[in-house]
Amino acid sequence: MSAPTLLYEGKAKILYTTNDPEILLTFFKDDATAFNAQKRGKIAHKGEINCTISKILFQYLEEHGIVTHFIDCPAPNQMRVRALKILPLEVVVRNIAAGSLCQQTGLPQGTVLEPPLVEFYYKNDQLGDPLLTRDRLLLLKLATPEQVDQIQQLALQINTHLSAFFKSCGIILVDFKLEFGLDSESQLRLADEISPDTCRLWNQSEFDPDRRVMDKDRFRRDLGDVENAYQEVLERVIATGNYQQ
Ligand code: TMP
Repeated sequence: MSAPTLLYEGKAKILYTTNDPEILLTFFKDDATAFNAQKRGKIAHKGEINCTISKILFQYLEEHGIVTHFIDCPAPNQMRVRALKILPLEVVVRNIAAGSLCQQTGLPQGTVLEPPLVEFYYKNDQLGDPLLTRDRLLLLKLATPEQVDQIQQLALQINTHLSAFFKSCGIILVDFKLEFGLDSESQLRLADEISPDTCRLWNQSEFDPDRRVMDKDRFRRDLGDVENAYQEVLERVIATGNYQQ
């Protein structure tokens, strides 16, 4: 039996091998970064909060037929996942204009996007995760045309499920980022995490553009009360009754 060895340390998580080559162990860190790690900090209890929120959302998506890498959580900040070949893509789904979409297009923040927008970014820190066109993505062979179509469809289905879930928590799902990978049978699976680090979440009952923010934008934009916002999202997600030990 081989001891767990560190496979990869990312900005928010550490991946370890296990004695089963099909299974990896993920540790969620309290570390927070923004703007391609130019801004660094810590958010107290973020590891446990993001791991638990991700667990509940992965379980919810699995119940709705979405295939994910999630297996279980041996501890509040640890998740066992299937080993995947991660596609170097960040798939962003947007329901409401915010963030880089507004900066790059001039669309006013808050513009409702109907239908939702699906965007592909190249997951490459050295290049600053640039926005891709479909042709550039195919040129770089980051995925096959069939995989791109499948990811696009899956991303929209996931958006429908997550939007409904968050709505039941009194939260508007503004936009979010997904990652996908292939398992040993070449099946596409949703990977990474779904948390206030990777979603824009606005409190439905707040209209003030700063006060309504319940996600990592509080850290990115120095809005304060970051821990409380993450904790509040966790409490609302648990209150839906979807939490399984
Ligand atoms: P953006 O508006 O900055 O492009 O972000 C879109 C969404 O993607 C937002 O919910 C935050 C999330 N995101 C990540 O999860 N990781 C990243 O590195 C970036 C830039 C955004």
